Amino acid sequence: MKFPTAIFGLLLICCAAGLTQAEYSKYKDPRQPLNVRIKDLMNRMTLEEKIGQMTQIERTVASADVMKKYYIGSVLSGGGSVPAVNASAETWIKMVNEFQMGALSTRLGIPMIYGIDAVHGHGNVYNATIFPHNVGLGVTRQVHDTDPELARKIGAATALEVRATGIPYVFAPCIALERSKDARQSIPCHQIPQGNPQIQDWQGIDRITSPPDANYSYSVQTGIHAGIDMIMVPYNFTEFIGNLTFQVKNNIIPMSRIDDAVHRILRVKFMMGLFENPMADLSLVNQLGSPEHRALAREAVRKTLVLLKNGKTGDKPLLPLSKKATKILVAGTHADNLGYQCGGWTITWQGLSGNNLTSDYVKAEKFDYAIVVVGEHSYAEGYGDSLNLTISDPGDEIISNVCGAVRCVVVVISGRPVVIEPYVASIDALVAAWLPGTEGQGVTDVLFGDYGFTGKLARTWFKNVDQLPMNVGDDYYDPLYPFGFGLTTEPNQV
Ligand SMILES: *[C@@H]1O[C@H](CO)[C@@H](O)[C@H](O)[C@H]1NC(C)=O
Ligand SMILES: *[C@@H]1O[C@H](CO)[C@@H](O)[C@H](O)[C@H]1NC(C)=O
Ligand SMILES: *[C@@H]1O[C@H](CO)[C@@H](O)[C@H](O)[C@H]1NC(C)=O
Ligand SMILES: *[C@@H]1O[C@H](CO)[C@@H](O)[C@H](O)[C@H]1NC(C)=O
Ligand SMILES: *[C@@H]1O[C@H](CO)[C@@H](O)[C@H](O)[C@H]1NC(C)=O
Ligand SMILES: *[C@@H]1O[C@H](CO)[C@@H](O)[C@H](O)[C@H]1NC(C)=O
Ligand SMILES: *[C@@H]1O[C@H](CO)[C@@H](O)[C@H](O)[C@H]1NC(C)=O
Repeated sequence: MKFPTAIFGLLLICCAAGLTQAEYSKYKDPRQPLNVRIKDLMNRMTLEEKIGQMTQIERTVASADVMKKYYIGSVLSGGGSVPAVNASAETWIKMVNEFQMGALSTRLGIPMIYGIDAVHGHGNVYNATIFPHNVGLGVTRQVHDTDPELARKIGAATALEVRATGIPYVFAPCIALERSKDARQSIPCHQIPQGNPQIQDWQGIDRITSPPDANYSYSVQTGIHAGIDMIMVPYNFTEFIGNLTFQVKNNIIPMSRIDDAVHRILRVKFMMGLFENPMADLSLVNQLGSPEHRALAREAVRKTLVLLKNGKTGDKPLLPLSKKATKILVAGTHADNLGYQCGGWTITWQGLSGNNLTSDYVKAEKFDYAIVVVGEHSYAEGYGDSLNLTISDPGDEIISNVCGAVRCVVVVISGRPVVIEPYVASIDALVAAWLPGTEGQGVTDVLFGDYGFTGKLARTWFKNVDQLPMNVGDDYYDPLYPFGFGLTTEPNQV
């Protein structure tokens, strides 16, 4: 009787000790102070594991196996990189969790952090709210300037919609100066809001040299020395890891620099609670495109519209439009095109834009007035570069044919001021609607007078491109509409 008991007791002791050793690590204990957790974890990490934390890869080259094998610290979606066409929140969460499982299955189980651009809403997922983006990538500048509370709410709504898809990290633009002995250049970069590890933009270090990748080892060395903590590699991660490992082993990059970077990255992961709650769930799915968020977006649309002209000289103002009209012509390439209205950095749907309205047809149909919606096609970043800044064909033809035949309001959908001066004389009322996003009803709210126009230009509107660059305060300043310009209307009393 005694003998087995003793063995049993011994077994118990041995297993309890084993369990404690396997399960208790200070870094896993949320009751330990932040710095104790970081220090404990870093003391356990190999160089390989540390460099993995500094490596951010694109989802198309990521998998649970890659996460595990290379100890990858972060994954991102490049522009338009989605797990499926019209992917639902469930599809996103499934993908993010799969990568996370790979990260958690490593020796130390350090969670990865998934990042994505959501510059004017979470345009990467079906049914999300797309907020208006005003002049400049992702900056609803007019809202920021005039209604910071609305801007804050838009930020919070975007965060919720991104979280709804299992993603805890959204890129925010900033500018950093990179210094080396003889070079000084700027690298567009991204910062994780808490704790501020530095991360540079897409293939940023590759582009330190001209042409890019001319000397990748130089790029790695310079980028890390300059203080970039997490590298948005994002594809050739084995080359990046190989180069950085070589440079640390050969004392080209000091271990202290690696520790410094990894410390900041882990700090953010701990502070965000990723170690405690690494897996995403469906609890926020109803936040995607919720009525509250859509209402916020619609309000922002109303507030960003800028009224540039209202009535020809001697005429009555055309706006607000009469709701009693019997026949209204709505025309133009951008009138019924969600893709154009959302602009770049969103899922774009290419609507049909053909429009061959002739003056005779418009006259014959006896419309009360016409709403013409024209503008630019969608673009992002360098793809939007243009030396002529014209509206897309056949926008000018539509304006001529329609406005030559009936009183018209022209609504311009564009990410920036465009050439409009040649048509202004023929237009009765002119509205800059920028890129309103999914809640285009905000435009009609104001056109039909349920709300007044209040928006002001956050950019100078030029007459012709030969004037550019032209900024307020220049010696020679002869704009079509100056910075800060914007007519107002009173809302209709119903
Ligand atoms: C994606 O959604 C758009 C808009 O609803 C639809 O036209 C398209 O057919 C969908 N594509 C697929 C592959 O489901
Ligand atoms: C999009 O929203 C509609 C309406 O709320 C819903 O019926 C549909 O299932 C959603 N689609 C996806 C892919 O989430
Ligand atoms: C590449 O850069 C490294 C510094 O990182 C330098 O030692 C090497 O000479 C460069 N190689 C070439 C081909 O310029
Ligand atoms: C990354 O891979 C691509 C395609 O395989 C290649 O063209 C490019 O030069 C590589 N860049 C680096 C830094 O190795
Ligand atoms: C460094 O990067 C270059 C370019 O991608 C690659 O050819 C080379 O193999 C890398 N070096 C190491 C040690 O991985
Ligand atoms: C536009 O052209 C098509 C043929 O290309 C024709 O069927 C249609 O009636 C025309 N629409 C107008 C409004 O003139
Ligand atoms: C204006 O520039 C864009 C972009 O370079 C080009 O696609 C377009 O054809 C040009 N339009 C005209 C009228 O020259």
